Amino acid sequence: MSTATAKQPSWLSKAVFYQIYPQSFCDSNGDGIGDLPGIISKLDYLQSLGVNALWLNPVFVSPFGDAGYDVVDFCKVAPRYGTNADLARLFKAAHKRGMKVVLDLVAGHTSDQHPWFKDACNNPKSPYSNYFIFTGQEEQRSCYYYQAAVVKGRRGGYYKPNFLAFQPCLNYGYMNPDPAKPWQLPTDHPDCLAVRGMLRDVMKFWLDLGCDGFRVDMAASLIKNDPEAIGLRCLWQGFRAWLDRDYPEAVLVSEWCNPINAIDSGYHIDFMIHFSDSAYRPLVGPGYALNGKARRPHVFFERAGEGDITEFLRIYQKHYEPTKGRGYIALPTGNHDFYRNSHGRDASELRVLYAMLLTMPGVPFIYYGDEIGMRNLTGITEKEGSMWRAPCRTPMQWDGAKPNLGFSTGKSKALYLPVDPAPDAPTVAAQERDPDSLLNFTRKLLALRAKHSALGNDGAFCPLYAEGGRYPFVYQRSDAKGSFAIAVNPGEAEVTIARPQLKNAKRLLGTAVVKGENLTVPGVGFGIFRLAE
Ligand code: BGC
Repeated sequence: MSTATAKQPSWLSKAVFYQIYPQSFCDSNGDGIGDLPGIISKLDYLQSLGVNALWLNPVFVSPFGDAGYDVVDFCKVAPRYGTNADLARLFKAAHKRGMKVVLDLVAGHTSDQHPWFKDACNNPKSPYSNYFIFTGQEEQRSCYYYQAAVVKGRRGGYYKPNFLAFQPCLNYGYMNPDPAKPWQLPTDHPDCLAVRGMLRDVMKFWLDLGCDGFRVDMAASLIKNDPEAIGLRCLWQGFRAWLDRDYPEAVLVSEWCNPINAIDSGYHIDFMIHFSDSAYRPLVGPGYALNGKARRPHVFFERAGEGDITEFLRIYQKHYEPTKGRGYIALPTGNHDFYRNSHGRDASELRVLYAMLLTMPGVPFIYYGDEIGMRNLTGITEKEGSMWRAPCRTPMQWDGAKPNLGFSTGKSKALYLPVDPAPDAPTVAAQERDPDSLLNFTRKLLALRAKHSALGNDGAFCPLYAEGGRYPFVYQRSDAKGSFAIAVNPGEAEVTIARPQLKNAKRLLGTAVVKGENLTVPGVGFGIFRLAE
């Protein structure tokens, strides 16, 4: 029984994404920074992994104060990555292999070096004055930004930034503007509508060049004073209606972390960032972190076995139930903003984590290098506004070639960030040779997902064993073609439970064992089973 009923791009029900941090993926010209021709040269590898869609972090002209999330030209590829023609080549080469390419749309802000912003700051008659939010006083800071943003040009006063001070908000207007604050324009003010129009032009520009959609950065940030997302729903539903009409195969992926709101707003996919509930707590509430550096003392994916899967499930199901069939929740393996999932976790622990993440409903996203267990290089210096994020953004480790593990032929000193110096740093080449490697395990999981539609994006999901403070977590995935059970036990202690549904289940992967109705999952173990009819 497929749950996908809403109109959506035809490829989405089988989509498996891979996130590429372009500066760190593959450097084709030896300048130390990854680039688009480098990505093209790795498409065979990506295809062999079993992914069929790519999301690239921003590749646009930028002073790189926030690694490219501070854009000065939304329609031009930054020379360090190549040219617009290179990007068009990437779209073509990917499409030839049946793969899609999604770009990052930094919809909420520009760089303070953007010509519109500079003009708005310096020219009293600038046509762009209302494209940004120049406040008479500093408005209350949001949960995202912490630096005061003082105008340096003739205008004086303050402006509203979206994330860091040099990222001025684009002005999509305020819900219920306060008349005492004349800079709070309504969402239907002609200048706010012009900003919307600009965003649509940017999307159109890239879609016409061959791109397959967008991951929208800080998707919830666009309309101000809109806690119920009323204005946001209206704004994104408008874009979705336009895409459905003119670009029905294009996808919208949100960085919102609130699938109910995002999918109601017209997004096809929303990320549920489950590796740090502290950063996204205001959006979906506390307690849903599965792994990573959560503020809570324990998460479920820990050897200590003291996490509580019901905390995650309560929030996951709250969002899954009302959105299934209308859009997808993505539980990514990691991303460029948080510690890598390998932090404090060995390869066997990663397998258990991936056994769950890659058999859940929704659209999987694999962060580059997670398939080989790249380490979080804690202690390295900051780069381009990375703050705490540099350790998860280091160059991809392709092979044993000295000195840059196949990432670049340039001098080590010129590299965007250092490569992992460990003598046993994981590489693609070494793991290709080892049938039991994490890389080949990831391949097996993705192949299983592709083979059995019930394990894929649309198969129904139902917990079979999920008890507060207990392990394992067992759930069923099913559709008209079959039913499967997945059991994960990240804890160190072996566990046994009984469930009638498991009788005569046949194991497809893992080391968990079913005898009669009893399921035994070894410590740090898992099992994927086909259930008897
Ligand atoms: C991106 C970050 C970026 C920020 C500001 C995000 O959530 O993922 O990498 O720094 O938005 O654009």
